[in-house]
Amino acid sequence: MHMYRSERLWMTLGIAMLVVFLATLTTAALVDGFVPPSHVQSIDPTKVSQTPPFDHPGLRKLGNGSYEAYYVAHIFSFDPQHLVIPAGAHVTFYVTSPDVEHGFSVPETGVNTMVTPGWVSTVSHTFKTPGKFLLVCNEYCGAGHQLMAGNIEVK
Ligand code: CUA
Repeated sequence: MHMYRSERLWMTLGIAMLVVFLATLTTAALVDGFVPPSHVQSIDPTKVSQTPPFDHPGLRKLGNGSYEAYYVAHIFSFDPQHLVIPAGAHVTFYVTSPDVEHGFSVPETGVNTMVTPGWVSTVSHTFKTPGKFLLVCNEYCGAGHQLMAGNIEVK
């Protein structure tokens, strides 16, 4: 098969770039131990409902205006569905999934993370003023994805 010199050059360049990218990814994953951002804590996705504190999702008070909120995102709802937070609270959300990839997003607050089975996603926010916030799944997760929502009430 006849191949132009310029074609051969482009193919060689393309393959060389692929090799460099794959080598970089492999080194980052195996040598540097890189994992998806914010995923630092792992969990057995088949035992989420028996693993504390995810066996009783909800809000925990830490004192000093700080709170922790544990959430389970599953097809097709959030547990808890409804959360009440005092105004001014600094809340760290811990979210995991027992089934598929979900999203955890509270529009207009900057709270937005992917939820991956096997990992606990963490994101923090200070709710300064009272109001009602929508909590939505923004990763397509199946036939009921558009129904997957909850709310957060700050008062
Ligand atoms: Cu869960 Cu989309």
